[in-house]
Amino acid sequence: KTHKITLIPGDGIGPEVSGAVVKIVEAAGAATGIGFEWHRYAAGAEAFETTREYIPKALYDSIEENRVALKGPVTTPIGGGFASINVTLRKKFELFANFRPVKSLPGLKTRYPDIDLIIVRENMEDLYAGLEHEVVPGVVQALKIITEKGSTRISQFAFDYARKHNRKKVHAIHKANIMKLSDGLFLRCARKVAEEFPEVAYAEHIVDNTCMQLVMNPYQYDILLTENLYGDILSDLCSAFVGGLGLVPGANLGKECAIFEAVHGSAPDIAGKDMANPTALLQSAVLMLHHIDESATANRIQTALEQVYREGKTLTKDVGGTSGTKAFADAVLQAMEMP
Ligand code: NAI
Ligand code: MG
Repeated sequence: KTHKITLIPGDGIGPEVSGAVVKIVEAAGAATGIGFEWHRYAAGAEAFETTREYIPKALYDSIEENRVALKGPVTTPIGGGFASINVTLRKKFELFANFRPVKSLPGLKTRYPDIDLIIVRENMEDLYAGLEHEVVPGVVQALKIITEKGSTRISQFAFDYARKHNRKKVHAIHKANIMKLSDGLFLRCARKVAEEFPEVAYAEHIVDNTCMQLVMNPYQYDILLTENLYGDILSDLCSAFVGGLGLVPGANLGKECAIFEAVHGSAPDIAGKDMANPTALLQSAVLMLHHIDESATANRIQTALEQVYREGKTLTKDVGGTSGTKAFADAVLQAMEMP
C-alpha cells in the first residue's frame, strides 16, 4: 500500500529535521511493506518568493486531497508581516484539536523521570483568532474569541481520549477569575462534558498557579485541557520536563484532515548547522502513522528511537550528546535494521 502525504519541510531547521524524518519513515515503511508518496510544498516567505502566495493554492488542494500532512516549522515574522502559516492552516482545515503528548524517553536523564502527560489545546479560537486593531493611536485592541461550540468540542475530545486510553484525570486550565465571561464559558462547557464521563476525574486549575504546580510536581497532572494561548505556553514549559523542544511531538486534528508537526519552531539560532534534534518531528510522524492505521510502521520507528536513547551514544547537543542531526538519524536507521 502507498500512502499519499503532503509534506511541508518548513524553513530554519525544518529541512534538516524533515529530511531526517522522511528517510526514517521511508525505511520503516519499506521494512513493513508500505510505501509513501510525498507531495512536497513550501509555505511562508519561501513560498512567496516563487508563487506570490504565502500558502500556495496547490498546497491547500494537496492537504484537502491527501487529508494528512507532515509539517516542519515555518518562521512567522514578529510585529508586522504575514499571518502565521500554522494558525492559518489550522483555521482553514478546522483543525480544532492540538494534541501534544509529553512523555519521557527511556534512558534520557532529564529534570523529571517518567513523565507522561498530555496537553489538549483548543486550536482555532482565543487571542489567536488574530482580531487586532488600533482603536486610536497608542491604544490597540485584541479580541479573545471563546465559543460554546469550540470549548465543548475540545472538551469532548479530551474526555473521549481519556476514556479510550484509560487516562485518569482531566484538568481544565483557566483564568476565569479575571476573564469571567470568556474563560467562564470555557469552564462551563468543560464541566458539562465532564459530567458525561464519571469514570474520568475532573479538576480546574488557574493557569498561573498551574505553572508553579507543574514545576513543583508535574505528576499530579494527566491531561491538561486548555484554550489556545495557555496551551501554547504550557506546551513549551512541559517540554522541559522531558528534555526540551527537540522531543515533543504534536498533531493538529480535525474531522476531515490532520497536520502533524512538532511543538517547536524554526530555531533560527541553530538552523543549517546540523544541530537540530529531529526526535520531535519523528515522534509527530509516529503519531501520523498511528492515525493512518499503520501502527506496525509506527512501532518500528518508536522502538528504534527508544533504543538509541537507551544506548545514549549518539544523541544531539540539546539532550547532552555530541552528535549531529544526520548522525542521530543514521543511528535510528541502524537500530531499525536490527532484528
Ligand atoms: P523555537 O521553538 O524555534 O526555538 C526555541 C529554542 O529551542 C531555541 O533555542 C532552539 O534552538 C531550541 N530548539 C527548538 N527546536 C529544537 C530542536 N528540534 N532541536 C534542538 N533545539 C531546538 O522558538 P522561537 O525561537 O521562539 O521561534 C522561532 C520561529 O519559529 C518564530 O518565527 C516562530 O514564529 C516560529 N514557530 C513556528 C512554529 C511552527 O511552525 N509550528 C511553532 C513555534 C514557533
Ligand atoms: Mg508554541
